[in-house]
Amino acid sequence: MDQFVIEGGVRLEGEIPVSGAKNAALPVMAACLLTPEPVILHRIPEVRDIRTMARLLEHIGARVEFRNGTLRVEAAEIGQPEAPYELVKTMRASSLVLGPLLARTGRARVSLPGGCAIGARPINLHLQAMERLGARIRQEHGYIIAEAPQGLRGTLITFDRITVTGTEDVLMAAVLAEGETVLENAAREPEVADLAELLSKMGAQIEGAGTSTMRVRGVARLQGAEHTIIPDRIEAGTFLIAGAITGGDLLVTQCRPDHLTALISKLLQMGAEITEGGPGALRVRRPGRLYAADVTTEEYPGFATDLQAQYMALATQAEGVSLITETIFENRFMHALELMRMGADIRLEGRRAIVTGPRELTGAAVIASDLRASASLVLAGLVARGETIVDRVYHIDRGYERIEEKLSRVGARIRRISV
Ligand code: EPU
Repeated sequence: MDQFVIEGGVRLEGEIPVSGAKNAALPVMAACLLTPEPVILHRIPEVRDIRTMARLLEHIGARVEFRNGTLRVEAAEIGQPEAPYELVKTMRASSLVLGPLLARTGRARVSLPGGCAIGARPINLHLQAMERLGARIRQEHGYIIAEAPQGLRGTLITFDRITVTGTEDVLMAAVLAEGETVLENAAREPEVADLAELLSKMGAQIEGAGTSTMRVRGVARLQGAEHTIIPDRIEAGTFLIAGAITGGDLLVTQCRPDHLTALISKLLQMGAEITEGGPGALRVRRPGRLYAADVTTEEYPGFATDLQAQYMALATQAEGVSLITETIFENRFMHALELMRMGADIRLEGRRAIVTGPRELTGAAVIASDLRASASLVLAGLVARGETIVDRVYHIDRGYERIEEKLSRVGARIRRISV
């Protein structure tokens, strides 16, 4: 199992490029199941979740080729409309194939995800929406079986709460349904809009993507298309925080600053300096001290839950008390306990973390519990005195493309070891 060994205390300086967004890549890959024609996707990050999704598409019967960030998927025929437990248990986003399979073949068998380190994360909202579209759903042996032998029918769907992959899943079902579907209280994340853009290139008729009401006029078939996915706003945000936490001078390139406004305004409030560094680039510096600032996670365009753990590492270095409230997931504070082992002053009260800073962090052996928690521990390691060993690096490999190489190139002393 791999570990990262980090020697803290180096200011990061230089240019650091952002990869394509994992959470945009996963739904667009699932969307390839909607057509028998080839779909070409560019800027796909080489991370573990992408390989898992590729295996899932192959299991279903698609031909998948992946070279230099370009993925070609051809689902000429659907062999088995199924997401098996072996894949779903390693990646919950596997449930994204439910909508496309149901729409294309009238049938899908998808394993229910089990427990998750960050919260219960059920898929009940996906299922309710599929039922509204006319699917019959039953559960058997840990699997959901969805059937719509007569095809899906457009209707009004109002999500009880905002769900990102739920919106994507249902959107992919609706594009081939008969008639019009209206999605109310839809997720507004840029990844949803990116999926809608690919679907439109494939011939889908979608209005309102990126807003909370989407209108979809179903079409009989979709065609192949070519698409470049958006940059990863969470990776970009992690690098901005890396610049701020080490007091460095980083140019984060190939990103979309307009997708990062909530984080940028917090970093400015804390005393970091963020300026435009040319098209698609942001420069982060820290002229002086950092000051505490409260954060509450929200759906986009609010502060992303996927940046909460990294923000907490930064808050340990800010003067004063930062109140961090997690509203999206009920158990997403595992990193706090590890940060405390490194010397952070954090009190947990239900969904709130009270971080008092600044505290000097000292290197320790820590364990990553999920993808973003591991990023938080790497950030803490960059600023800690002495050596930090981050265990279970496979979590970070799910979503960050060669993070240790990118950070090394801007001066970080971080290396991967296999134990
Ligand atoms: N929820 C339900 N029922 C459902 C669906 C969601 O109760 O049927 C609840 C969830 O349990 C959660 C909340 O609704 O409390 C929001 O969950 P959402 O469905 O939006 O999350 P997701 O779609 O499963 C995506 C990202 C996550 C990110 C969340 C929130 C992908 C592949 N995953 O998950 O990314 O944290 O949205 O923004 O897009 C990550 O990349 O590290 C990651 C966890």
